[in-house]
Amino acid sequence: MKGIILAGGSATRLYPLSKAISKQIMPVYDKPMIYYPLSTLMLAGIREVLVISTPRDLPMFEELLGDGSRIGMKLSYKVQNVPNGLAQAFVLGKDFLNGEPGCLILGDNMFYGQHFGRMLKEAVATVESGKSTVESQKSKEESRGGAVIFGYEVADPRAYGVVEFKEVTGYGLQVIGLEEKPAEPKSNYAVPGLYFYDETVCEKAANLQPSARGEYEITDLNKLYLAEGTLRVKLFSRGFAWLDTGNCDSLLEAGNFIATIQNRQGFYVSCIEEIAWRNGWISTEQLALLGKEMKTAYGRYLERLAAKGS
Ligand code: G1P
Repeated sequence: MKGIILAGGSATRLYPLSKAISKQIMPVYDKPMIYYPLSTLMLAGIREVLVISTPRDLPMFEELLGDGSRIGMKLSYKVQNVPNGLAQAFVLGKDFLNGEPGCLILGDNMFYGQHFGRMLKEAVATVESGKSTVESQKSKEESRGGAVIFGYEVADPRAYGVVEFKEVTGYGLQVIGLEEKPAEPKSNYAVPGLYFYDETVCEKAANLQPSARGEYEITDLNKLYLAEGTLRVKLFSRGFAWLDTGNCDSLLEAGNFIATIQNRQGFYVSCIEEIAWRNGWISTEQLALLGKEMKTAYGRYLERLAAKGS
């Protein structure tokens, strides 16, 4: 499976902070914001990633992450000239995906919690295997392909895509409806910016029409899978953190959250070099060298990991 990080937009809710630089390059405590979604893809086992951003900001991401070979990955870059919606990622990313399944993560979505890697790998396995069609004769649990989205309970879901679902015995959760930024949400479950799709995604995205606000909505793409009967939702539990970075308060809170966890445990959150190493994508020697290049606590952390060897 391949991954796409969408790191565009103008982030006007962060002005003047984001007037001259991309929001997704800003620090969340000790690392650029894009490290967090990149690490999510890495935890899913995804090694080939396309970063999409504005003509102004894309060169900065290229300078930061390069071709990915330093962390055993393959990174490529694509400009989104007009910020006309998240679903456009699959129009711009068509050649990159080349008829394969794809995972989309938004460049400002941060996740932290136990068993996250396992959940991600399950989502990959679900959408990856075989051609997707509605397999109504088979039990839905057995059927593969389609799409996997997530649900996370929030106090006020009006700023998000909202998913309504019910429990069906022997099936799990069945999605009943999806709405983008509803004034009167039918549930408290927001849909985070992390989506897994089968190989039909580019074809579906190409046929979408812009919404009332003039955007190609990711929610409309998900609705096509819902209509087909192949949309699955998995829930993040209350012990799981999905952090917002939309305004300066939430950005600061996210940074404080990461600092609190890291300083308490001594483990780094979303450390891309560590994940690459634990995935077996770089050697212990390479990890030590990456650490040596940085005269910071971050660099010492990498060196410590390499010395400990586990
Ligand atoms: C976008 C999506 C929305 C989703 C959210 C998650 O909203 O349109 O469905 O819940 O990301 O971050 P936006 O950030 O464009 O307002």
